[in-house]
Amino acid sequence: MPNAEQSTNAPSADERAREIEQQMSVDERFSLLVSVMGVNNVVTDRHPAIPEGTPMSAGYVPGVERLGVPAQLMSDASLGVTNPGYRPGDSATALPAGIALGASFNPDLARASGEMLGREARSRGFNIQLAGGINLLRDPRNGRNFEYLSEDPLHSAALAAESINGIQAQGVISTIKHFSLNCNETNRHWLDAIIDPVAHRESDLLAFEIAIERSQPGAVMTGYNKINGTYAGGNSALIQDVLKGAWNYPGWVMSDWGGTPSWQAAIAGLDQESGLQLDIMMWQTEWFTDRLRAAHAAGELPGERLSDMVRRILRSMFAVGVDQWGPAPDVDMDAHHEIALKTARQGIVLLSNDGVLPLPVDKPVKIVVIGGHAQVGVPTGCGSSAVLPPGGYAEIIKIGGPGVMGVGRNLYLHPSSPLTELKRLLPEAQIEFDPGMSPAESALAASHADLAIVFGIKIDSEGFDDPDLLLPWGQDAVIDAVATANPNTVVVLETGNPVLMPWKDRVRAIVEAWYPGQAGGRAIAEVLTGAVNPSGRLPITFPANLSQTPRPDLPGLGTPWGTAVTIDYDEGAEIGYRWFAKTGAQPLFAFGHGLSYTDFSYTDVRLSGDDTVTATFTVTNTGDCAGADVPQLYLVGAPGQLRRRLLGFARVELQPGQSQQVTILAEPRLLATYDAGASTWRIADGPHHVELARAANAPVAGREVTLAGRTFGR
Ligand code: BGC
Repeated sequence: MPNAEQSTNAPSADERAREIEQQMSVDERFSLLVSVMGVNNVVTDRHPAIPEGTPMSAGYVPGVERLGVPAQLMSDASLGVTNPGYRPGDSATALPAGIALGASFNPDLARASGEMLGREARSRGFNIQLAGGINLLRDPRNGRNFEYLSEDPLHSAALAAESINGIQAQGVISTIKHFSLNCNETNRHWLDAIIDPVAHRESDLLAFEIAIERSQPGAVMTGYNKINGTYAGGNSALIQDVLKGAWNYPGWVMSDWGGTPSWQAAIAGLDQESGLQLDIMMWQTEWFTDRLRAAHAAGELPGERLSDMVRRILRSMFAVGVDQWGPAPDVDMDAHHEIALKTARQGIVLLSNDGVLPLPVDKPVKIVVIGGHAQVGVPTGCGSSAVLPPGGYAEIIKIGGPGVMGVGRNLYLHPSSPLTELKRLLPEAQIEFDPGMSPAESALAASHADLAIVFGIKIDSEGFDDPDLLLPWGQDAVIDAVATANPNTVVVLETGNPVLMPWKDRVRAIVEAWYPGQAGGRAIAEVLTGAVNPSGRLPITFPANLSQTPRPDLPGLGTPWGTAVTIDYDEGAEIGYRWFAKTGAQPLFAFGHGLSYTDFSYTDVRLSGDDTVTATFTVTNTGDCAGADVPQLYLVGAPGQLRRRLLGFARVELQPGQSQQVTILAEPRLLATYDAGASTWRIADGPHHVELARAANAPVAGREVTLAGRTFGR
């Protein structure tokens, strides 16, 4: 990949950006600052800025041909190259949900899926992928959790960085989004997210900080919400002071679509308004075209700031190399399908199992598969991340809902049927299907079988939060009735969030498959039959009930579209497993939890401190099938306080009997607190209690290590 920054003789991306920007007219400068949406299911008229023949997508910004600046063509998302009606028939590889990738705890897989995204984007001419969704899973009702990676900053950053690196290695700019605290969807355009600024630095912002450091994404997309009273898109405390100030971020900051709060956002650090038509649709006005120009003409937007906005965009284009593209890369859709399949396999979490799984493959058992449209395919989440898979969706069942996102809220089924795949992998079994329509009918079907496999699905969508953690459409009652009718009941969940499982102790095994993507049905069947040994670990705590969570009642839930809502994120940095450690509550399933068909032992555990914490140990697969383990290192106490932090993790694949020595080095910021007065990270001098663990609540070994007090970073 030609990259100006890698060539020693060539000017740096910064130098080139400066040079090219100086040669631009005022009109050319302004033309780079606004993206327009292509024609899709909502936008019906082609915007005059988009030339004929340009592939329609989420965003278009004209180039400046005379200066060799290419147009910007932007496409969503982290889960594939999306197409909500922009380009009839143009399908792309549909990856599993981000939360499934998160469950793999596998940065290498994130890298592979990023490379895939970059190749598929580039082959269509898209040079900006609106990927890198990294909001922390603070609330198990958030309708967009499925797009993101986890509730933990280090874990999210480790995976997001690799995905972004994979995309940008293909010469395609990746965003990282949504900066910051866009952690609920309820009235998101009117949502004021309140947080203590120090806690923010130690959680959501830390995820951005580490991911940006590790991957240098070309652009940061701001959120729709306000943070502490100020819209993210115009929040100078976050954009100027933290992102561009403390972190010295050199790329550009774009708004979310319809999320530019005013032209003054430019003064607060926003460099580009996104999706002009959505701003008009939402607010009956848009800000960066005439108003920003007028402000400039009136001297209210300093020339230096205008140049900075342009230079930041150019700098990222040159640094990633979007102006150096050769011919489009060959896209091997079969290889990409394998990446989707691998992600589904590694993302599936075996939550409980009394030994009923894996299913015997050579016995003529009578099995009934119930519900979840398992005879058709697997569901996916809705909104800007939904990907049209090769061959199209197997089915689209309208759901709907209020607000602008209601039209896209559907039950989309990817054509990978768990039922078909189970029949393929269990040729000796006699397998029937029951639609799961009513408890009575499903119980009857279950009573005639040796084993019942019930699918429970829940559709999450951008623009909506879940009112509770139950399965919709009466599915909990169906599972309950089936478990009563047949003691050999296995439940497979396909959800974007934790659910409560009131039937948990009455079923023999529970599998969480999330939204498993275009190969999901196959991966589920492989895990159920043991062709694949499950290795996913929960990237989010499953609470036993909402009263265990920081906000049993979600403010604003169900209020009409347009209602101002304030959510106090009082838990601060104590999100998920950290919150549970603080309150002492026992979750349904802990962060990091996930079972295997084999066992792993840990020996020669050495935990030591100094500048940071180091864990060295040997993992052995003591069972009789190959499998992968995910050892986790936690801080559990700092001097004078209980403080739980994931410090690092590894994913180790082992054959039966095989051992591997593993070293995990703690990321120092997770051992530190942020000292706002001194603007620095601070590790306290003295004893810190650390644990090697299988899950946030399952320690294997622990001890006190002594750390030397120090300050570092900004
Ligand atoms: C989403 C963004 C997305 C954008 C463009 C917005 O609704 O919040 O994540 O990139 O649309 O489609």
